[in-house]
Amino acid sequence: MKSDDRKLGICVIGSGRAGMIHARNFARRVTRARLVALTDPHAPTLADARAELEVETGYADYRQALADLRVDAVVVVTPTSLHREVVLAAARAGKHVLCEKPMAMDVRECDDMIDSCARASVKLQIGFMRRYDESFRAAKERLDAGEIGEAVLVKSLTHGPSVPQEWMYDIAKSNGPLAEVNSHDIDAARWFTGSEIAEVYAVGGNFRCPQAREKYPDFYDNVAMVCRFADGRQGFIDGAVSVGYGYDSRMEIVGTRGVLFVGRTEQDSVVGCSADRGIVRPFVKSWRTLFTEAYYAEDQDFVDCILDGREPRVRGIDGRMAVAVVNAGNRSIVERRPVGVEGVSA
Ligand SMILES: NC(=O)c1ccc[n+]([C@@H]2O[C@H](COP(=O)([O-])OP(=O)(O)OC[C@H]3O[C@@H](n4cnc5c(N)ncnc54)[C@H](O)[C@@H]3O)[C@@H](O)[C@H]2O)c1
Repeated sequence: MKSDDRKLGICVIGSGRAGMIHARNFARRVTRARLVALTDPHAPTLADARAELEVETGYADYRQALADLRVDAVVVVTPTSLHREVVLAAARAGKHVLCEKPMAMDVRECDDMIDSCARASVKLQIGFMRRYDESFRAAKERLDAGEIGEAVLVKSLTHGPSVPQEWMYDIAKSNGPLAEVNSHDIDAARWFTGSEIAEVYAVGGNFRCPQAREKYPDFYDNVAMVCRFADGRQGFIDGAVSVGYGYDSRMEIVGTRGVLFVGRTEQDSVVGCSADRGIVRPFVKSWRTLFTEAYYAEDQDFVDCILDGREPRVRGIDGRMAVAVVNAGNRSIVERRPVGVEGVSA
Protein backbone atom coordinates (compact mmCIF):
# COMPACT_ATOMS: atom_id res chain seq x y z
CA MET A 1 0.00 0.00 0.00
CA LYS A 2 1.55 3.36 -0.96
CA SER A 3 -0.27 6.45 0.06
CA ASP A 4 0.75 9.96 0.99
CA ASP A 5 -2.69 11.38 1.68
CA ARG A 6 -3.87 8.73 4.12
CA LYS A 7 -2.91 8.80 7.77
CA LEU A 8 -2.22 5.56 9.54
CA GLY A 9 -4.28 5.16 12.73
CA ILE A 10 -2.06 4.28 15.69
CA CYS A 11 -2.94 2.96 19.12
CA VAL A 12 -0.37 2.76 21.91
CA ILE A 13 -1.01 -0.25 24.18
CA GLY A 14 0.47 0.52 27.60
CA SER A 15 0.74 4.20 28.52
CA GLY A 16 3.61 3.99 31.01
CA ARG A 17 7.15 5.38 30.71
CA ALA A 18 8.11 4.05 27.29
CA GLY A 19 4.53 4.09 26.01
CA MET A 20 4.34 7.83 26.46
CA ILE A 21 7.55 8.37 24.45
CA HIS A 22 5.92 6.67 21.48
CA ALA A 23 2.54 8.29 22.13
CA ARG A 24 4.08 11.78 22.17
CA ASN A 25 5.90 11.05 18.93
CA PHE A 26 2.76 9.84 17.17
CA ALA A 27 0.66 12.70 18.56
CA ARG A 28 3.14 15.46 17.77
CA ARG A 29 5.88 14.56 15.31
CA VAL A 30 5.43 11.47 13.17
CA THR A 31 4.05 12.29 9.73
CA ARG A 32 1.48 10.20 7.82
CA ALA A 33 0.12 8.87 11.15
CA ARG A 34 -2.45 9.85 13.74
CA LEU A 35 -2.65 8.73 17.34
CA VAL A 36 -6.27 7.60 17.55
CA ALA A 37 -6.32 5.76 20.87
CA LEU A 38 -4.42 4.93 24.03
CA THR A 39 -4.90 1.95 26.30
CA ASP A 40 -3.96 1.16 29.88
CA PRO A 41 -5.84 -0.79 32.57
CA HIS A 42 -4.59 1.64 35.23
CA ALA A 43 -7.23 4.38 35.13
CA PRO A 44 -5.14 7.31 36.46
CA THR A 45 -2.30 6.51 34.01
CA LEU A 46 -4.73 6.41 31.10
CA ALA A 47 -6.48 9.60 32.18
CA ASP A 48 -3.19 11.52 32.51
CA ALA A 49 -1.98 10.26 29.13
CA ARG A 50 -5.21 11.19 27.37
CA ALA A 51 -5.27 14.61 28.99
CA GLU A 52 -1.66 15.39 28.09
CA LEU A 53 -2.03 14.37 24.46
CA GLU A 54 -5.67 15.41 24.05
CA VAL A 55 -6.61 11.94 22.77
CA GLU A 56 -10.36 11.34 23.01
CA THR A 57 -10.33 7.56 22.93
CA GLY A 58 -8.93 5.55 25.80
CA TYR A 59 -9.49 1.84 26.43
CA ALA A 60 -8.90 0.00 29.68
CA ASP A 61 -8.81 -3.28 27.77
CA TYR A 62 -6.52 -3.43 24.75
CA ARG A 63 -8.92 -5.85 23.02
CA GLN A 64 -11.38 -2.97 22.63
CA ALA A 65 -8.68 -1.04 20.79
CA LEU A 66 -8.10 -3.98 18.46
CA ALA A 67 -11.79 -3.89 17.52
CA ASP A 68 -11.57 -0.16 16.70
CA LEU A 69 -11.61 0.13 12.91
CA ARG A 70 -9.67 3.41 12.97
CA VAL A 71 -6.66 1.56 14.40
CA ASP A 72 -4.33 0.29 11.65
CA ALA A 73 -1.28 -0.35 13.79
CA VAL A 74 -0.37 -0.75 17.45
CA VAL A 75 2.68 -0.07 19.56
CA VAL A 76 2.99 -2.70 22.28
CA VAL A 77 4.51 -1.17 25.39
CA THR A 78 3.08 -3.31 28.16
CA PRO A 79 5.25 -5.18 30.65
CA THR A 80 7.25 -7.79 28.73
CA SER A 81 5.34 -10.85 29.98
CA LEU A 82 2.25 -9.59 28.10
CA HIS A 83 3.94 -8.94 24.74
CA ARG A 84 3.13 -12.34 23.24
CA GLU A 85 -0.55 -12.24 24.17
CA VAL A 86 -1.05 -8.70 22.87
CA VAL A 87 0.93 -9.21 19.65
CA LEU A 88 -0.95 -12.41 18.80
CA ALA A 89 -4.29 -10.67 19.35
CA ALA A 90 -3.15 -7.67 17.29
CA ALA A 91 -2.08 -9.91 14.40
CA ARG A 92 -5.41 -11.75 14.52
CA ALA A 93 -7.15 -8.38 14.27
CA GLY A 94 -5.00 -7.47 11.23
CA LYS A 95 -3.06 -4.66 12.96
CA HIS A 96 0.60 -3.94 12.21
CA VAL A 97 2.84 -4.18 15.27
CA LEU A 98 5.74 -2.25 16.72
CA CYS A 99 6.66 -4.28 19.82
CA GLU A 100 9.01 -2.89 22.44
CA LYS A 101 12.06 -4.84 23.46
CA PRO A 102 12.54 -7.36 25.02
CA MET A 103 10.35 -9.02 22.43
CA ALA A 104 9.06 -11.71 24.82
CA MET A 105 10.03 -14.05 27.63
CA ASP A 106 11.47 -16.92 25.58
CA VAL A 107 12.13 -17.99 22.01
CA ARG A 108 8.94 -20.08 21.85
CA GLU A 109 6.89 -16.94 22.47
CA CYS A 110 8.94 -15.06 19.85
CA ASP A 111 8.31 -17.79 17.29
CA ASP A 112 4.56 -17.58 17.95
CA MET A 113 4.68 -13.81 17.44
CA ILE A 114 6.73 -14.03 14.23
CA ASP A 115 4.47 -16.77 12.83
CA SER A 116 1.19 -15.06 13.64
CA CYS A 117 2.30 -11.72 12.15
CA ALA A 118 3.56 -13.50 9.01
CA ARG A 119 0.30 -15.45 8.69
CA ALA A 120 -1.75 -12.27 9.05
CA SER A 121 0.57 -10.39 6.62
CA VAL A 122 1.13 -7.59 9.12
CA LYS A 123 4.47 -5.92 9.84
CA LEU A 124 6.33 -6.82 13.01
CA GLN A 125 9.01 -4.36 14.11
CA ILE A 126 10.99 -4.64 17.35
CA GLY A 127 11.90 -1.56 19.43
CA PHE A 128 15.70 -1.57 19.24
CA MET A 129 15.89 2.16 18.73
CA ARG A 130 19.70 2.32 19.00
CA ARG A 131 19.74 1.19 15.38
CA TYR A 132 18.16 4.58 14.61
CA ASP A 133 20.54 6.63 16.75
CA GLU A 134 22.84 8.95 14.82
CA SER A 135 26.08 8.00 16.58
CA PHE A 136 25.41 4.25 16.60
CA ARG A 137 24.56 4.43 12.90
CA ALA A 138 27.67 6.48 12.11
CA ALA A 139 29.85 3.95 13.96
CA LYS A 140 28.26 1.06 12.10
CA GLU A 141 28.84 2.81 8.76
CA ARG A 142 32.51 3.46 9.63
CA LEU A 143 32.97 -0.16 10.72
CA ASP A 144 31.38 -1.40 7.50
CA ALA A 145 33.63 0.95 5.50
CA GLY A 146 36.65 -0.87 6.98
CA GLU A 147 38.01 1.96 9.14
CA ILE A 148 39.19 -0.36 11.95
CA GLY A 149 39.53 -3.56 9.94
CA GLU A 150 37.51 -6.52 11.19
CA ALA A 151 35.64 -6.16 14.49
CA VAL A 152 37.22 -8.57 16.97
CA LEU A 153 35.76 -7.56 20.34
CA VAL A 154 32.52 -5.68 21.00
CA LYS A 155 32.11 -4.20 24.47
CA SER A 156 28.77 -2.69 25.32
CA LEU A 157 27.31 -1.38 28.53
CA THR A 158 24.03 0.04 29.74
CA HIS A 159 23.52 1.47 33.21
CA GLY A 160 20.15 2.91 34.19
CA PRO A 161 19.67 5.48 36.94
CA SER A 162 16.28 4.59 38.34
CA VAL A 163 14.99 2.08 40.83
CA PRO A 164 13.24 -0.70 38.84
CA GLN A 165 9.46 -0.94 38.60
CA GLU A 166 8.10 -3.65 40.95
CA TRP A 167 7.37 -6.09 38.03
CA MET A 168 11.00 -5.86 36.93
CA TYR A 169 12.29 -7.31 40.25
CA ASP A 170 10.56 -10.58 39.45
CA ILE A 171 12.95 -12.35 37.07
CA ALA A 172 10.15 -14.77 36.10
CA LYS A 173 8.10 -11.78 34.85
CA SER A 174 10.81 -9.56 33.40
CA ASN A 175 13.87 -11.78 32.74
CA GLY A 176 15.78 -9.20 34.80
CA PRO A 177 18.22 -6.48 33.77
CA LEU A 178 19.79 -8.64 31.06
CA ALA A 179 16.42 -8.37 29.31
CA GLU A 180 15.21 -4.97 30.42
CA VAL A 181 18.52 -3.14 30.05
CA ASN A 182 21.01 -5.25 28.09
CA SER A 183 18.70 -6.37 25.26
CA HIS A 184 19.92 -3.22 23.53
CA ASP A 185 23.57 -4.18 23.97
CA ILE A 186 22.93 -7.71 22.73
CA ASP A 187 21.17 -6.39 19.65
CA ALA A 188 23.89 -3.82 18.98
CA ALA A 189 26.59 -6.50 19.30
CA ARG A 190 24.77 -8.70 16.74
CA TRP A 191 24.19 -5.70 14.48
CA PHE A 192 27.82 -4.52 14.55
CA THR A 193 29.39 -7.94 14.03
CA GLY A 194 26.76 -9.41 11.74
CA SER A 195 27.27 -12.57 13.77
CA GLU A 196 25.24 -14.50 16.33
CA ILE A 197 26.27 -14.89 19.97
CA ALA A 198 26.77 -18.62 20.50
CA GLU A 199 27.82 -18.93 24.14
CA VAL A 200 27.75 -16.73 27.25
CA TYR A 201 29.07 -16.75 30.77
CA ALA A 202 27.32 -14.29 33.09
CA VAL A 203 27.59 -13.33 36.73
CA GLY A 204 25.00 -11.26 38.56
CA GLY A 205 24.45 -9.80 42.00
CA ASN A 206 22.20 -7.41 43.89
CA PHE A 207 24.38 -4.63 45.28
CA ARG A 208 22.15 -1.53 45.25
CA CYS A 209 18.56 -2.74 45.78
CA PRO A 210 18.35 -4.08 49.36
CA GLN A 211 14.57 -3.48 49.32
CA ALA A 212 14.21 -6.34 46.79
CA ARG A 213 16.47 -8.90 48.48
CA GLU A 214 13.93 -10.66 50.67
CA LYS A 215 10.98 -10.84 48.28
CA TYR A 216 13.02 -11.33 45.09
CA PRO A 217 16.19 -13.27 46.05
CA ASP A 218 17.00 -13.99 42.37
CA PHE A 219 16.98 -10.34 41.39
CA TYR A 220 20.33 -8.93 40.29
CA ASP A 221 21.01 -5.24 39.75
CA ASN A 222 24.47 -5.73 38.26
CA VAL A 223 25.53 -8.19 35.60
CA ALA A 224 28.70 -8.93 33.63
CA MET A 225 28.51 -11.25 30.62
CA VAL A 226 31.29 -12.61 28.41
CA CYS A 227 30.14 -13.69 24.93
CA ARG A 228 31.57 -15.93 22.24
CA PHE A 229 30.20 -15.41 18.75
CA ALA A 230 29.56 -18.24 16.32
CA ASP A 231 32.50 -17.09 14.17
CA GLY A 232 34.84 -16.78 17.15
CA ARG A 233 34.56 -13.03 17.79
CA GLN A 234 34.36 -11.85 21.37
CA GLY A 235 31.89 -9.75 23.31
CA PHE A 236 31.53 -8.28 26.75
CA ILE A 237 28.27 -6.81 28.02
CA ASP A 238 27.64 -5.22 31.35
CA GLY A 239 24.41 -4.00 32.82
CA ALA A 240 23.35 -2.14 35.90
CA VAL A 241 20.16 -0.60 37.25
CA SER A 242 19.56 1.85 40.05
CA VAL A 243 23.00 3.42 39.52
CA GLY A 244 21.73 6.87 40.42
CA TYR A 245 24.49 8.82 38.63
CA GLY A 246 22.74 8.98 35.26
CA TYR A 247 22.03 6.96 32.12
CA ASP A 248 25.12 5.38 30.66
CA SER A 249 25.14 3.63 27.30
CA ARG A 250 28.43 3.17 25.51
CA MET A 251 30.17 0.79 23.12
CA GLU A 252 33.75 0.08 22.23
CA ILE A 253 34.46 -1.94 19.09
CA VAL A 254 38.01 -3.24 18.92
CA GLY A 255 39.11 -4.14 15.41
CA THR A 256 42.15 -5.64 13.74
CA ARG A 257 43.40 -2.12 12.89
CA GLY A 258 41.81 0.24 15.38
CA VAL A 259 38.95 0.98 17.72
CA LEU A 260 35.62 2.82 17.62
CA PHE A 261 34.07 4.41 20.70
CA VAL A 262 30.33 5.07 20.62
CA GLY A 263 28.15 7.02 23.03
CA ARG A 264 28.51 10.10 25.17
CA THR A 265 28.27 10.70 28.87
CA GLU A 266 27.88 14.51 28.87
CA GLN A 267 24.31 15.80 29.15
CA ASP A 268 25.24 18.80 27.01
CA SER A 269 28.28 20.70 25.80
CA VAL A 270 28.33 23.16 28.73
CA VAL A 271 31.06 22.61 31.30
CA GLY A 272 31.02 24.69 34.50
CA CYS A 273 34.11 25.51 36.50
CA SER A 274 33.99 27.35 39.82
CA ALA A 275 36.12 27.70 42.94
CA ASP A 276 33.64 25.97 45.21
CA ARG A 277 32.32 23.22 42.90
CA GLY A 278 35.31 22.51 40.69
CA ILE A 279 34.62 21.25 37.16
CA VAL A 280 30.93 20.46 36.64
CA ARG A 281 30.08 18.41 33.56
CA PRO A 282 26.52 17.04 34.03
CA PHE A 283 26.06 13.35 33.14
CA VAL A 284 23.33 12.20 30.73
CA LYS A 285 20.22 11.94 32.90
CA SER A 286 17.91 9.57 31.06
CA TRP A 287 17.41 7.30 28.06
CA ARG A 288 14.41 9.48 27.30
CA THR A 289 16.64 12.46 26.52
CA LEU A 290 19.65 10.60 25.08
CA PHE A 291 17.58 8.68 22.54
CA THR A 292 14.79 11.22 21.86
CA GLU A 293 15.61 11.43 18.16
CA ALA A 294 16.19 7.68 17.83
CA TYR A 295 12.70 6.90 19.20
CA TYR A 296 11.22 9.43 16.82
CA ALA A 297 13.10 7.98 13.82
CA GLU A 298 12.04 4.47 14.85
CA ASP A 299 8.37 5.48 15.04
CA GLN A 300 8.53 7.33 11.73
CA ASP A 301 10.20 4.37 10.03
CA PHE A 302 7.49 2.02 11.35
CA VAL A 303 4.82 4.14 9.65
CA ASP A 304 6.86 4.54 6.47
CA CYS A 305 7.48 0.78 6.25
CA ILE A 306 3.76 0.08 6.44
CA LEU A 307 2.67 2.77 4.01
CA ASP A 308 5.51 2.16 1.55
CA GLY A 309 5.33 -1.63 1.75
CA ARG A 310 8.91 -2.09 3.05
CA GLU A 311 10.20 -4.61 5.57
CA PRO A 312 11.07 -3.12 8.99
CA ARG A 313 14.74 -2.46 9.65
CA VAL A 314 14.52 -4.33 12.99
CA ARG A 315 12.59 -7.55 12.55
CA GLY A 316 11.11 -10.30 14.69
CA ILE A 317 14.20 -12.45 14.23
CA ASP A 318 16.33 -9.69 15.81
CA GLY A 319 14.05 -9.63 18.85
CA ARG A 320 14.11 -13.42 19.01
CA MET A 321 17.90 -13.74 18.93
CA ALA A 322 18.27 -11.17 21.72
CA VAL A 323 15.76 -13.12 23.83
CA ALA A 324 17.73 -16.34 23.23
CA VAL A 325 20.89 -14.65 24.53
CA VAL A 326 19.04 -13.21 27.56
CA ASN A 327 17.71 -16.67 28.45
CA ALA A 328 21.19 -18.19 28.15
CA GLY A 329 22.65 -15.40 30.30
CA ASN A 330 20.06 -15.84 33.04
CA ARG A 331 20.69 -19.58 33.06
CA SER A 332 24.42 -18.99 33.25
CA ILE A 333 23.95 -16.76 36.32
CA VAL A 334 21.93 -19.43 38.12
CA GLU A 335 24.00 -22.44 37.04
CA ARG A 336 27.37 -20.65 37.34
CA ARG A 337 28.73 -22.00 34.05
CA PRO A 338 28.99 -21.04 30.38
CA VAL A 339 25.72 -21.69 28.54
CA GLY A 340 25.17 -22.16 24.80
CA VAL A 341 22.59 -19.96 23.07
CA GLU A 342 19.66 -22.04 21.82
CA GLY A 343 19.82 -22.68 18.10
CA VAL A 344 23.30 -21.20 17.54
CA SER A 345 26.24 -23.52 17.15
CA ALA A 346 29.62 -22.32 18.32
N1 LIG B 1 13.21 0.78 24.03
C1 LIG B 1 13.50 1.19 25.24
O1 LIG B 1 14.54 1.81 25.42
C2 LIG B 1 12.58 0.92 26.40
C3 LIG B 1 12.64 1.75 27.52
C4 LIG B 1 11.79 1.47 28.59
C5 LIG B 1 10.94 0.39 28.54
N2 LIG B 1 10.93 -0.42 27.43
C6 LIG B 1 10.04 -1.59 27.37
O2 LIG B 1 8.69 -1.15 27.30
C7 LIG B 1 7.85 -2.03 28.04
C8 LIG B 1 7.13 -1.23 29.14
O3 LIG B 1 8.11 -0.68 30.00
P1 LIG B 1 7.83 0.67 30.83
O4 LIG B 1 9.13 1.06 31.41
O5 LIG B 1 7.09 1.66 30.00
O6 LIG B 1 6.90 0.07 31.96
P2 LIG B 1 5.76 0.85 32.79
O7 LIG B 1 5.47 -0.03 33.95
O8 LIG B 1 6.14 2.28 33.01
O9 LIG B 1 4.52 0.86 31.78
C9 LIG B 1 3.80 -0.29 31.44
C10 LIG B 1 2.35 0.14 31.32
O10 LIG B 1 1.60 -0.97 30.79
C11 LIG B 1 0.36 -0.95 31.44
N3 LIG B 1 -0.29 -2.25 31.29
C12 LIG B 1 -0.24 -3.33 32.10
N4 LIG B 1 -1.02 -4.31 31.62
C13 LIG B 1 -1.57 -3.85 30.46
C14 LIG B 1 -2.49 -4.37 29.52
N5 LIG B 1 -3.00 -5.60 29.64
N6 LIG B 1 -2.86 -3.60 28.47
C15 LIG B 1 -2.37 -2.35 28.32
N7 LIG B 1 -1.50 -1.80 29.20
C16 LIG B 1 -1.10 -2.54 30.25
C17 LIG B 1 0.68 -0.59 32.88
O11 LIG B 1 -0.47 -0.15 33.59
C18 LIG B 1 1.72 0.51 32.67
O12 LIG B 1 1.14 1.78 32.61
C19 LIG B 1 8.76 -3.13 28.61
O13 LIG B 1 8.76 -4.22 27.73
C20 LIG B 1 10.11 -2.45 28.61
O14 LIG B 1 11.19 -3.35 28.52
C21 LIG B 1 11.71 -0.16 26.37
